[in-house]
Amino acid sequence: MSGLALWPEQASAYAAEVDRLVLGVTVLIVLLSAPVFVLIVAFAVKYRRGRAADRSHQVNRRVGLEVSWAVIPFVLLIGFYVWAARLFFDAHSPPADAIEIQVLAKQWMWKFQHAGGQREINELHVPAGQPVRLTMASQDVIHSLYVPALRLKQDVVPGRYTTLWFNADRPGAYALECAEFCGADHAAMGGHLVVLTPTEYAAWLEKSGVDESLAAQGARLFRSHGCSGCHAAAATVHAPPLEGLFGRPVPLQDGSLVTADEQYIRDSILLPQAQLAAGYPPIMPTFRNVLSEDEVLRLVAYIKSLAADAPERPR
Ligand code: CUA
Repeated sequence: MSGLALWPEQASAYAAEVDRLVLGVTVLIVLLSAPVFVLIVAFAVKYRRGRAADRSHQVNRRVGLEVSWAVIPFVLLIGFYVWAARLFFDAHSPPADAIEIQVLAKQWMWKFQHAGGQREINELHVPAGQPVRLTMASQDVIHSLYVPALRLKQDVVPGRYTTLWFNADRPGAYALECAEFCGADHAAMGGHLVVLTPTEYAAWLEKSGVDESLAAQGARLFRSHGCSGCHAAAATVHAPPLEGLFGRPVPLQDGSLVTADEQYIRDSILLPQAQLAAGYPPIMPTFRNVLSEDEVLRLVAYIKSLAADAPERPR
């Protein structure tokens, strides 16, 4: 796609496939609609007033022809539907081995936090050829993370987590923008996605290294805000154990079953009465005006880290 730049550059195989889909749909639509316009003009000329054309109307019933011009476009369009649906599901199914990065949007900046505790503002460094999954929270209003080179855009909405995953395989720096009007400096709320080779990325992590991983920072909050008083193994209060919680199904008091994902943990911290785990008294206080979204993200990282070293337990 050099020469006339109709599209932004492509940073992933997914972006290339989105472009092929758009091009394919465009070609199909032109092929299906162009004959209509060509014939309108041709008939207008052929049957214009005063022209000695044959205007008798012969009934011509060729069933095969009539069926074909309904069925062929239908099959072609279904083909595109399947293609587009596959891309959609792909964009919403992050692989399990994706690198986790936390994103906090606020007026007017993007804050990115890596699992090792590295943080950066308006710049996101990722390794090429490895899937990356973003868990995104907003501290104030709706923002939208948009990376044209990835052909991906996802709203970041206050009160919930949204996610986005990608596998950028071409090293380089790509524009990263906010695509939702969010106030006076919306237009300035952007930066770069910097795709590095795995070696460069390892060096970058090393250089930007901090003492504490995100999970360790979360563990510190867990103690300083008194969570450990009830949730620690030795606590006398009857609170749900958090070891091995992440990713498991949790039976609720109303009989339903939810999966303990990032959103569940966030809601349990900020809106504890909204979803009570079955068999536990409703004694958990809300931390809504105590913890910032940033701190909740770190607690989520900590509770997630407890999943790995948990003993198998019966449900
Ligand atoms: Cu944030 Cu626009």
